[in-house]
Amino acid sequence: MSSAMASVALLTPSATSLSLRENSKRIGFGKKHGHLLFKGKASGRVSMTVAVNTSRFEGVTMAPPDPILGVSEAFRSDTNELKLNLGVGAYRTEELQPYVLNVVKKAEKLMLERGENKEYLPIEGLAAFNKVTAELLLGADNPAIQQGRVSTVQGLSGTGSLRLAAAFIQRYFPDSKVLISSPTWGNHKNIFNDARVPWSEYRYFDPRTVGLDFEGMIADIKAAPDGSFVLLHGCAHNPTGIDPTPEQWEKIADVIQEKNHIPFFDVAYQGFASGSLDEDASSVRLFVKRGLELLVAQSYSKNLGLYAERIGAINVVCSSSDTAARVKSQLKRLARPMYSNPPVHGARVVANVVGDPNLFDEWKQEMELMAGRIKNVRQRLYENLSQKDKSGKDWSFVLKQIGMFSYTGLNKAQSDNMTDKWHIYMTKDGRISLAGLSLSKCEYLADAIIDSFHNVN
Ligand SMILES: Cc1ncc(COP(=O)(O)O)c(C=O)c1O
Repeated sequence: MSSAMASVALLTPSATSLSLRENSKRIGFGKKHGHLLFKGKASGRVSMTVAVNTSRFEGVTMAPPDPILGVSEAFRSDTNELKLNLGVGAYRTEELQPYVLNVVKKAEKLMLERGENKEYLPIEGLAAFNKVTAELLLGADNPAIQQGRVSTVQGLSGTGSLRLAAAFIQRYFPDSKVLISSPTWGNHKNIFNDARVPWSEYRYFDPRTVGLDFEGMIADIKAAPDGSFVLLHGCAHNPTGIDPTPEQWEKIADVIQEKNHIPFFDVAYQGFASGSLDEDASSVRLFVKRGLELLVAQSYSKNLGLYAERIGAINVVCSSSDTAARVKSQLKRLARPMYSNPPVHGARVVANVVGDPNLFDEWKQEMELMAGRIKNVRQRLYENLSQKDKSGKDWSFVLKQIGMFSYTGLNKAQSDNMTDKWHIYMTKDGRISLAGLSLSKCEYLADAIIDSFHNVN
């Protein structure tokens, strides 16, 4: 497009037609196939200076940077060599480099050798992916799967799957609200707000113990209107890294059952919390075993390192196969006008890795390695904090937390100090991603945390 045409596109309709009529005589605009064409030679004077140059988008205000992804943007523009990005939850090697899993490379090689095509997928996604993803989540021998009661639709990773589920809730349960933990992953509120699903919070984090406020959580779930959706992090709660114990999960299930609520799990870290895929799915499986109907959003961003492939799923476990079929048909109906059908690449990678016994075993080993590296830096950070801080503060909460994150308890001003003085980038709620930390940087991080905690109010 010529620069003259580009400026035409920005003008108001009235200004455009006026200036075009005036200018077309001098510079030779023509019209062909409904498009404006520039026939003359462009010169500086051709610009539409006669027109009133007000944008139709004048009323659009500047959006604030995203609280999580905005941190990476700020990190990129910092030139200090000590800088450390602990904002985004993405796994890094000990050298702090992004990591592509070997099993992913092997699966991609297989795909290339097979010369697979790029045809559209069905709206619900790749059948082989949907099968293995439900099996990975619930266990292949789960009666819910065997009885055809699970409706699985491939989604645009965890976020897109949550968004699809939110659209489903908005359409079929317009009077229900979703209960979300306080705090929770920052995007949950955005997702429900944009889908126009009302939400409220249940207590989760106890700042006094830097642990779970279990009593508060139970009381708030009990107090919610019957039939509410309760959003639960399947494992490795983001941002706190604090998960209920198996006994606490049983009690949560009791209350949810008592209140006729609908559990809605967000499983973004299966395998990343404990290093075991089965153990990290035990919360979801416990609810399914009780015969409850529930929703589960899954993501392969973290456990297979497929962040940019946008691969995940929404599963709805129903009471009968007939209901599951109807639910699936409606999920497809919601997906069609939103994005038509999902991308194929990540789905094939997952289907190849999870569906092949050899690659599956290799994946489990790689995951243990990743989870193990995070556990090691967690341990080292705790040791550095305890040894260096002479105030007697108990830092053992760092060890009790699980998964990619540590919720340090630092407030906004203290988190600002971490960035402004120490060049450590993190979210303002005090969360740090240990997946972006190396053993050699633990001491520096401990110094920064101790300084921020004691010297900033
Ligand atoms: C709790 C939780 N849910 C869902 C997601 C979704 O991630 P993605 O859309 O990359 O799968 C994340 C990512 O950080 C998360 O932490």
